[in-house]
This record gives sequence, structure tokens and C-alpha cells, in this order.
Amino acid sequence: MAYQDLREFIARLEAEGELVRVRAQVDPELEITEITDRVSKGPAERNKALLFEHVRGSDMPVLINAFGSRRRMALALDVDDLDELGRRLAALLDLSLPQNWGEKFGKLGQLLDVARIGPRTVRNGPCQEVVETQNPSLAGLPILKCWPLDAGRYITLPSVISRDPRSRRRNVGMYRLQVFDERTLGMHWQLHKGGAEHERVAHDIGAERIPVAVALGGDPAVIWSGSAPLPPDMDEFLLAGWLRGKPVELVACVSQPLEVPANAEIVIEGYVDPNERRSEGPFGDHTGYYSLAEPYPVLHITAITRRKDPIYPTTIVGRPPMEDYWMGKATERLFLPLIKLFLPEVVDINMPAEGVFHNLVIVSIKKRYPGQARKVMYGLWGLGLLMLAKAIVVVDADVDVHNLSEVAWRVTNNIDAARDCVIVEGPVDALDHAAPRPNYGAKMGIDATRKGPLDGFQRTWPPDIIMSAEIKALVDQRWSEYGIG
Ligand SMILES: Cc1cc2nc3c(=O)[nH]c(=O)nc-3n(C[C@H](O)[C@H](O)[C@H](O)COP(=O)(O)O)c2cc1C
Repeated sequence: MAYQDLREFIARLEAEGELVRVRAQVDPELEITEITDRVSKGPAERNKALLFEHVRGSDMPVLINAFGSRRRMALALDVDDLDELGRRLAALLDLSLPQNWGEKFGKLGQLLDVARIGPRTVRNGPCQEVVETQNPSLAGLPILKCWPLDAGRYITLPSVISRDPRSRRRNVGMYRLQVFDERTLGMHWQLHKGGAEHERVAHDIGAERIPVAVALGGDPAVIWSGSAPLPPDMDEFLLAGWLRGKPVELVACVSQPLEVPANAEIVIEGYVDPNERRSEGPFGDHTGYYSLAEPYPVLHITAITRRKDPIYPTTIVGRPPMEDYWMGKATERLFLPLIKLFLPEVVDINMPAEGVFHNLVIVSIKKRYPGQARKVMYGLWGLGLLMLAKAIVVVDADVDVHNLSEVAWRVTNNIDAARDCVIVEGPVDALDHAAPRPNYGAKMGIDATRKGPLDGFQRTWPPDIIMSAEIKALVDQRWSEYGIG
């Protein structure tokens, strides 16, 4: 059952024992970060969503860490486990011809489902219960200052909505926004992202402004979909609708030619001038380091609309693991079948928390021909935002990519550094502080698969050490006799 809005999700989290209401007054400057950081990194039973009911300087409650565990991320997308996402997408992508009438109707039903869940425009919505166009101000929002060296306060969990000025196609991205003053925000859409591309098109056609809306809240699938690296021109609200099994309802903005989720909590409307840049940052980023000040566009606010009693959703990023790791894990699980469509030898993939998404991708493959591990590396580097993967480690199909101990053991045993490491140059993440110049640098592929004649390997590859099933059964049976406990 799809959530209507953030409130229904909060109610579900509370019913599942996944939310703690904090009644003590807290400061949005640093204090909420320290509390949330302890909760996200502490023991699993303490890792809960937090609803701060009394935040200094604002009468709005603050919700944080709502996606911050595998369980809560699954609850957000209304699945039993994140792996179910991949299974659902795999069923949709199954292009094999239906064999009988039953299968034909099944396939037709799936495709009709997709047609039914596109976003729908409605006349009005709770996100416009209060409309401020004369003097819109960010002053009343409980926007966090996350880390001590941050340049200021940042909106961190937004759905940033823009349209390609030429094709009119929509993009929704989760890009942080720095508060410059009550009516202007820094727009941190990085070079490789959809919003930045819209801005580039606006610049090319000589448009003076590009309309932008920033929605805060809405149902959790809508919030999360902004972080999903969809191919350009694919509408994130369609993905959210497919995940919810119900269309996302949109209302027209009051001051810009855009639509926003009707059930959002707060909406900030405005425009970006493609010729304007201002210093944004530093900001304590999801790499665990501060991203330093860089020139970024500016969002000029033309209206703020909201519910009468809005809840302000936010997150903090920093040294992993944190809430964003789980948002990325949902992406990894959902997109695995899509990766397999292009690279069918891929069995599984893991982007561990320590690799902060783009630094480390571990992939297992079924190897059949010479150079296949390299083909997978190059294939991944050519797939959307995986172009930014700094290290790709390829292991055999029988290796559990989610078991980092096994991966480290296999990799270090199996590689000959001269033969198995590939270094290429190309685009790197905008947050990569080690690259010699911004956005461009070297990436590494490691082929840690076992080698044999098909790799031109002349020696004998040793077998894994595994006890015989017979002896295992014997020891199982006799275990109590040994008196070991
Ligand atoms: C909590 C969080 C914060 C993020 N902040 C930014 C950001 O400030 N700038 C950015 O370019 N990407 C940021 N991202 C990553 C983008 O949301 C992600 O790359 C997404 O695919 C972008 O959408 P797009 O492909 O439509 O541009 C963030 C992701 C998360 C989960």
C-alpha cells in the first residue's frame, strides 16, 4: 500500500518501532548532527529514525535518519527486503516472448501497470496550504548546520525539480542547497548531473533563467527517487509511481512553470541564472571529508509554499556509514538487473559503505572468454554514473561480494599486480579530492578472478580448501562427544 505522504511513512515507522520522538529542545546547528551520527553508527538496536519535536529557532519538527537502515529503506519503498526491488525490475525487463496465453496476459498486465503509474496533475494539494509569494523567506525553517567547518546551513534532503529548456523533459535530483540568505540558496548540482545539464542547455540557447522547484517531503518513494541515477530524460516521478504502484500527484507551482508533489511538506520555488556563480561550500560531505568551496549556481527564491504544520525532512552525510549509504544500497539492488541486461555475465555487485558509492565497486562474474573481466570493467565505466567508479574489483561468480573479508582474501591471493591491474583515465567524481585536477583522473580495475588457460595462465591454479561432505556430516553427528560445547 503506497504511502500518501511523509506523515503516513512516519506513522508506519513508529508502528514498527523504527522511530524515536525526541522531545528535548535541540539546536539545528551541530547538535542534531552529533546525535544522529551516534545513532547511525551505534548499535543496530539504537539506529532509529529521529523526529525532533522541539528545534531551536523554528516551530517545525525535524525528521532525520528515516532511510537509515536496510529495514527502514525497505519500509520506505514498501518491500520486504531491498532485493525485492531488483526482482520486480527483472520481471519487468524480462523480454523473453511469452509462451502461452497466461504469460501473455501477465506481461500485458505488467506493461499496463507501468502505463498507469505515470505522474498525474491535480488541482490543489496540501503543499500549498500556505502560500508566500510577496516575501518568501527561509527564516522559519529548521535548516541544519551539519559540521563545524561547513560554510553555513544546508538543505540536504530535497527533490530538486527542473525541466530541460529544449525538450521540456523533467529531472528530479537530490542536490544539497546552501543557505546564502533568506532568499537565495547555493545550488550544488554537480557537473555530471541532470540539473547541471539543464542549466547548460539553458546557457546554450541564451535563456536568462531556468525555473527550479525544491520539494521537501512527500511520500518516501518520491524523496528517494531524486537520488536514483536514472538515465537522462527518464522521469524520477515515473519511477516513484512504479515503486508505489500508484501515480505521484503533482500540482502546478505558484510562481514557476513547474509541477511539484502535491503531498510535499514544503516547496521552495525559484530560478537559476545560468550565467551566475557564487562560492559554495565547504561542506562536510558523504566521502567523510569536507568538500571545499567551489563556484556553483544560485537559486533565487520567488515563492515558498507549505502545509500549515510542516515537518522538515533532512539528513546528514559524513564519514560512512550514514543514512545515504542505505539510499545508495536501494539503488544498487534496484539497478542490478539493468546492469545484467547490458553485462549478462554479472552475477552480483556490492558498493560497500567504505567506498562511498563511487570509490569501490565489487562485481562477481561468470567468466567464459579471455579478457572478460576487463570487458566488465570497461562496460561499467560506460554505464551512467558508474563512469565515476574509482576502483572496480572483479571476482568469480562463487565469491560473495557482500562479504568484504572473503573479497579481501580472494583478491589479494588471486592477483598478479602486473597482469591483473588496469589503470585508465577518464571522468571522476566531482568530490574526488585526490585527482590531480577536478573531475578528471585515473581509475583502477582489478581482475581478481581465478586464472586458467583461457587467460594464458600456464601454471596449475590450486583448488580451494574445502572439507569433504562425509567428514563434515561425521563431525556434526559426533560434536557433542568432543565436549567442546
Ligand atoms: C543525501 C544525498 C545528498 C546528495 N547531494 C548531492 C549534491 O549535493 N550534489 C549532487 O550533484 N549530487 C548529490 N547527491 C547524488 C545525487 O542525488 C545522485 O547522483 C542522483 O542520481 C542525481 O540525479 P540526476 O542523475 O537526475 O542528476 C546526493 C545524494 C544523496 C543520497
